[in-house]
Amino acid sequence: MAASSLKRIDVCLSPELIDLYPLENRTVVVIDILRATSCVTTALAHGVGEIVPVADLEACRGMRSAECCTAGERNGEKVDGFDLGNSPFEYMNPELAGKRIAFTTTNGTRAINKSLSADEIIIGSFLNLHAVVRYLKSGTRDILAVCAGWKGKVNLEDTLFAGALVHELAGDAEPECDAPLMALHLYRQAQHDLAGFLSNSSHVKRLKRLHIEKDIAFCLERGKYDVVPVVRGGVIVKGNLL
Ligand code: MLT
Repeated sequence: MAASSLKRIDVCLSPELIDLYPLENRTVVVIDILRATSCVTTALAHGVGEIVPVADLEACRGMRSAECCTAGERNGEKVDGFDLGNSPFEYMNPELAGKRIAFTTTNGTRAINKSLSADEIIIGSFLNLHAVVRYLKSGTRDILAVCAGWKGKVNLEDTLFAGALVHELAGDAEPECDAPLMALHLYRQAQHDLAGFLSNSSHVKRLKRLHIEKDIAFCLERGKYDVVPVVRGGVIVKGNLL
C-alpha cells in the first residue's frame, strides 16, 4: 500500500509488458473484453462450475472427457472439434450448469496464465464491472489491471475497461503511473458511447468480418452480472460476493 491510505492501481497494457510489474501482494484483474473474460463472466453467472484456462490449443483439446467440455477460439473462430466457441451466448446454455470447461483463447487465457504468480487474480469485463469494483474496494491489496490486448499489441477495448476501473475507484485507489492515467482519459472520453468509440478498433472490425456484431454489443453492457470470477489453483471459479 502507498504511504497515503489509498491503494494504488496500475495498468499493464499488454501481457508482453507484465515482467515490468510486481505481482506480489497485488490483486490482478485480467481483462479481455472481446471476448474471453466476457465469456468467463457470462458462464459463471449462468452456473458453469469451473473453467480451466489453457494457453496451448492441443493441451486444451486433450482435456476433453465426459466430465470436461472444450471451448475457445483462434483468431476469433471456434476451434474444430471443440464443444464451444468464444461467444458469450454459448455459455448461457442451462446444460452447462455445474460443468467443467477447458478454455483456450488467442489472448485472454494467455494473459491469465502470465498472471498466475499474483497473490490474487480476478476476471473483469464490462458485464461485471460493478461487482468487480465493489470487490476491489473491499480489498486492501494494490491493484494491477492486465489487458490481454491482441497478440502482444495494445487494444482499445481492454484499455477502456482498465480506465473504467480507475474511474470507478477514484478516491479508493490512486494511479501509479501514466498507463492508468491514459486509460482513465480514454474511458472518460468514451464512456457515453463505448460502441461508437470502438467502431474502428481492430478487433471490432475483425469480429464484424466474422459477422459476430451481436457479441460486441453484449460485451459492452455494463454491470449486467453480479459475479466475480476468481482464479484458484489455476482454475476459475465463482468468487464470494461482497
Ligand atoms: C482472445 O482471447 O483473443 C479473444 O477472446 C478473441 C475472440 O474474440 O474470440
